[in-house]
Parts: sequence; C-alpha cells; structure tokens
Amino acid sequence: MQSNRRTFIKGISAASALVATESIAKPFGFPAYIPNLAKISPNDKIRIATIGMGIQGNFDTQAALRNPDVELVGVADLYTGRLEHAKTAFGKDKELFTTRDHREILARPDVDAVLVVTPDHWHDHITIAALKAGKHVYCEKPMVQHLSEGKAVIDAWKKSGKTMQVGSQRISSASFQEAKRLVQAGEIGAINYIESNSDRFSAIGAWNYSVPPDASPQTVDWDRFLGDAPKRPFDANRFFRWRNYKDYGTGVAGDLFIHLITGVHFVTNTLGPTRIFSSGNLAYWKDGRDVPDIMACIMDYPKTDQHEAFQMVLRVNFANAGKINDVTRIIGNEGQIEFSENNLIMTKKKLPIAPGYGGYDSFFTFTEPVQQEFVKGYDAKYPPETRTAEPVKEVKFTAPKDDDAHAKHFGDFFANVRSGSQGTLEDPVFGFRAAAPVLACNESFFEQKVVHWDPVTMTQKKLDKVPSTPKKKIIASAKGTNRKT
Ligand SMILES: NC(=O)c1ccc[n+]([C@@H]2O[C@H](COP(=O)([O-])OP(=O)(O)OC[C@H]3O[C@@H](n4cnc5c(N)ncnc54)[C@H](O)[C@@H]3O)[C@@H](O)[C@H]2O)c1
Repeated sequence: MQSNRRTFIKGISAASALVATESIAKPFGFPAYIPNLAKISPNDKIRIATIGMGIQGNFDTQAALRNPDVELVGVADLYTGRLEHAKTAFGKDKELFTTRDHREILARPDVDAVLVVTPDHWHDHITIAALKAGKHVYCEKPMVQHLSEGKAVIDAWKKSGKTMQVGSQRISSASFQEAKRLVQAGEIGAINYIESNSDRFSAIGAWNYSVPPDASPQTVDWDRFLGDAPKRPFDANRFFRWRNYKDYGTGVAGDLFIHLITGVHFVTNTLGPTRIFSSGNLAYWKDGRDVPDIMACIMDYPKTDQHEAFQMVLRVNFANAGKINDVTRIIGNEGQIEFSENNLIMTKKKLPIAPGYGGYDSFFTFTEPVQQEFVKGYDAKYPPETRTAEPVKEVKFTAPKDDDAHAKHFGDFFANVRSGSQGTLEDPVFGFRAAAPVLACNESFFEQKVVHWDPVTMTQKKLDKVPSTPKKKIIASAKGTNRKT
C-alpha cells in the first residue's frame, strides 16, 4: 500500500467536496483503521525491537503489535527491572532477546525495524545509528532534543532509503483527520489564531514518576544513560524523572506543545512559524528540576499558499490549583474548531456584510439631521439581504469507539515499510518541522530571546535579544548546559 502523505491529502480533498455541515457522528472517508493492504503472508512478518522499554516503550510496543504480522524480537533498556518486566510482558512462551546495549539490537539481522523510545537526548544518536545499520525507525517525539540536530537525522534517513515515522500518534486519530478535512474544505474560513492550554496539578502529572526501590548503579547503566550529557554521579531521580532536567528532556514544550503543533501542522499543511517567543517560570515544583513548570509561548505563522498568516499561543501550567479547563481551539474568520480528547466541535459563524449601527456606537452622538442622513446612506448601501448573519451552526464529531490512533500510526509506518516507501504520515522532515518550534520555545526561554526560524529551509535565522528582562534563577542554574544549541 502506498500510504504516503500526498495520496492521503489527495484523499482528504476528494472527501471534502462531499462535506455537509450538519451534525455528524461518524468520520467521513476515513477507515477506523488503516489496513495494511500489502502482501501479507505468515512469512511476511515485520520484526521489531524496542529501544527504551519504559512507560511509552510499553505503550508503543503494544500499539505496534496490535497490527497484523508484527513480531517483537528484542528489547534494549538500561534498567534491569524493565528488561525482566519485558520478558514477562512480551516474551510469554518464547525467549525474548534483551540487552542493555542498543548496538546489540542494531547488529541483529533478524531486526527489521526499531522503536526508539528513550529519553529525548538519545533520539538522534540511536536513530542515525539504526538507519545506518539498515533498520527502519519509529522514533518518539520530539524527533530531536536541539534545533541543531534535525538535519543530521534527515540526511541519515534520506541516505538510508529506509522508512521512518515520528511518534506523535494523535495525528492518526479520527478527530485530527476530521479537523484536517474541515479546515481544508474551508469550513471555518481562513485560520487567524490557534490557542491551547494543557494544565495539570499533580505530582505524576508534573513528571514525578515512581522510582523503583532497587534503583542503583548495579541495576541501571548510568554511564550509558548520560550519553553525551554532562558526567555526574548516579542519581535515580535524574534517570527515572529525566523530563525534569534539560540535559535529557525538552521540558513542557517538547513533552506537550509538540502534540498540538504536530496536529496544527497536519491540519493546516503549514511548514511552521517564523518567530517564536516563550516565557515561563518554576513556580511550584521546586524539587531540583531545572526546567520551568509554567510556560507560555507565542508563534507567528506567515501566510503561505496553504493558509493565511496566523498566530499560535500555547500554555502549560503544572501548578494550576484552580479550575483546569484544557482546551485547543483553531479559530478562523468563519468559525472555530475546538478539540477535546476524542471529539471535536466546529462552530460556524459568519458576519453579515452590513456593519450595523446603534447600541454602543457613535451613532447616538450625531445630531438628529446627521443621524437621518446617515440612515439614508446606510439603507442605500446595505439592502436587507446584507443585514442578517447566517445562523450559527454547531457540528459535533465523535471519534468511533474503536478508533485506535496509536495502532493506526504504526499501521502507516508498517505499510510504508512493506511497500518500500519513505512516505509516512510523519516522516523526519515533517517531524523536524514540528519539533523545531518547541525546541525554539526552549531556546527562547533559556536564552531570553526571540527565535527567528526559516520553516522552508529549516534553519535558524539571526536572533533578537528581548531587552531588559531580568534573568531568573532557573536560567542562571541551567546556564552552560545547553551544549548543542
Ligand atoms: N507519543 C506520546 O504520546 C508519548 C508519550 C510519552 C512519552 N513519549 C516519548 O517517549 C520517550 C520515552 O518516554 P517515557 O515516558 O517512556 O520515559 P521512561 O523514562 O519511562 O522510559 C525511557 C526508557 O528508556 C531507557 N533508556 C534510556 N536511555 C537508553 C539507551 N541509551 N538505550 C536503551 N534504553 C535507554 C530507560 O532505561 C527507560 O526505561 C520520550 O522521548 C518521550 O517524549 C511519547
């Protein structure tokens, strides 16, 4: 099956022509599951290995295995407990090859594809090594940890001829596909603003995941975990709660903004923003972390042949003890699309041509004769048919119960592997264009500057300093660790 992005989008446009704006309860034109139409035989199995069998490694592996003719043959992880757990969870009746050294996975001829599900600072190294070793790669988001690392991954992918998918699986959901169809069909007019917030107020939500009591330099390969990060003594918190440290993770931007940005890029066909500014603070989780727990970001997306210029405003607040009302809205000049977990609501609203007069307006401040003259002119210019707005319409979409975005995202990857195509839904060019704005958010925050980005060439442009903002403690403590930017 040739399930590349271009044919997928073509399919969407065709479906769009049939769009009606009444209430909908099922997807138009999208199967709940993208089937693998390529030749499948018992011997045609794709043999995968997971590198990084932590929380998402388990979920990714399960989602991959929900596709037909996929077999797990190996696991690499740096904590012995997770290798043992993998043997019980996935080995079942047969022996599962496990190792602490991902290079042993890459050297195995029986591995066709690897899932790179390590902390962010390992993504580029393992992905490039895997492509060079002739493996297909499914790499978790964000594709890379720093802006400077994207090109090398793209080059390695192009040179390898292998299939690669970046793992922001939500764009394979029926909701995002429906949003794309609606936006591409012009249902909400020209997009002018996108906003999203993703707040939390819990220790686990703020990434303080459980640390196993047997964590030690014996059960954890600490040196390998550090990789190219600064050397330091064993620290179980840094290993099991790596998101809290900029040496290994990408903060709230890389963890949460990335999903929305990927979705927006998918829905709008945009290449990315040109200007990115973020600000933030460490307000509550002062537990040794060196990344902010509150971050807001503004991005300017320029007009292209695919869309008008729009602004995107994102926020995460891990210290929101108030009412949490997470929302994602794509606002156009004829309506908006609002997302919730598995649903979306489109509200269509179009202004009448006639602007109206009276009410809170300057009209009442005119003299009587001027008011009469104004009304005469208004009546001549705006006949009755220009005065009524179209009735507001609300269109609800609920994803089918069996919609399995995660398995579908892998399904697209495997279909491309089988057909020898590099045209996945989220190939590394798309993946880097989505990652770049979030990495720029971090750069803007830590270096107190506006980041200028060229989304076409995927290169950083001259930087502006934001004048006179005092540097905060969190920035000072993190100074000097931003090695690769
Ligand atoms: N797509 C999504 O919705 C989604 C959700 C959660 C996490 N993620 C991404 O998945 C990745 C992993 O996140 P997580 O929450 O599973 O973290 P985790 O800490 O639970 O698991 C990471 C695992 O990687 C292992 N590891 C670290 N370095 C390694 C190396 N060099 N070789 C082999 N194994 C190594 C660790 O031992 C650990 O078990 C991150 O990039 C994260 O951004 C994506």
